[in-house]
Amino acid sequence: MKESSVDLYFFSGTGNTLLAARAVADELRAGGKKVRLLRLEKGIPAPADDTALGIAVTIACFSTYPFVWDVLEKLSAGEGRSAFALSTMGGFSGGLRAPLRALLDKKGFKTVGYAEFVMPSNYANKRIPAEENAVKIRKCEEDARRFARELLEERASWRRGGPLSPFFNWLARKKAPWALMKRSFPLEVDRNSCIQCGKCARLCPAKNIVMEEYPRFLDRCVVCQRCVAFCPPAAISVTGKKYAQYRAVEYDTLVSDTL
Ligand SMILES: Cc1cc2nc3c(=O)[nH]c(=O)nc-3n(C[C@H](O)[C@H](O)[C@H](O)COP(=O)(O)O)c2cc1C
Repeated sequence: MKESSVDLYFFSGTGNTLLAARAVADELRAGGKKVRLLRLEKGIPAPADDTALGIAVTIACFSTYPFVWDVLEKLSAGEGRSAFALSTMGGFSGGLRAPLRALLDKKGFKTVGYAEFVMPSNYANKRIPAEENAVKIRKCEEDARRFARELLEERASWRRGGPLSPFFNWLARKKAPWALMKRSFPLEVDRNSCIQCGKCARLCPAKNIVMEEYPRFLDRCVVCQRCVAFCPPAAISVTGKKYAQYRAVEYDTLVSDTL
C-alpha cells in the first residue's frame, strides 16, 4: 500500500472481528502507517487524501450483515486508493470475498488484499470451550498480523472465485435468509435478572432495542448477538434456548474510543 494512512472500519458483534482488526492495525502502525480504527456502523465518510481503506466484518449467513452492505454501497469513489478487507468466521465464509471485491472495484478502489480468519462461533453455542477458543483467538491474531505485513510489503492478494462461489456469491446480498434468521432467533428478556442498565439498547447497531422499564425489541434485529453477549447478567437470550453467552472482549473494550 502506497498510502501513508489507513482508515480501518470494522463491524464486530461480539468482539472477534475487533480483535482481528486491532491486530492488523497494530502491525500496520509498527510498519509506519498512521492507522485509525473506526466503527463501520457509524458510516464511512469520504476519506482524506493519501488514505487507504480497510474493511473488517463478521461473516454472517455466508456473507455479512445486510446493514454492512448498505454502508459499503454508499462508499464514495475510491479514485485509485488502496482497499483491503478481512473477516472472521466460525468456519465457512461462503460469499463475501468476491462480491466485496466487485463492489470496491466498481467504486474505483485498488483492491490489494483480503483475508479471513477462523474465530470461535459466537451464536447458538451450547457451551463455551474456553481453551479451544483461546487457541483460535491467538492463531487469528497471529495470522492477522501476518496479513498486515503482506499488505505493507505489497504481497497480499484478493482472489476471485472458488469452487462453490457462484452460488454463495449469488446468495451474498439476498435479504431472504435474514428474514428466516430473525424468525429463528427471536430475543427475550428475563425480567427477573435484567438490571435495567440499558447497555443492550446503547450497543444495538440496528437501534432495535428501546429501553423502557425493561428492554423492548422492535422488528429490526440484525442477529449480531451483541445484546446477548454483553448483557451483564445474561438476561437476554434467544427465546426458549439455553445458549451460552459468548464474547471475545469486555464491554469497555467494545465501546472504547482508543482502539
Ligand atoms: C447471525 C450469525 C450468522 C453467522 N453465520 C456464519 C456463517 O455463515 N459462517 C461462519 O463460518 N460463521 C458464521 N457465524 C459466526 C461468526 O462469523 C463468527 O463467530 C465471527 O467471528 C463473529 O465475529 P464478531 O464477534 O466480530 O461479530 C455467524 C454468526 C452469527 C451471529
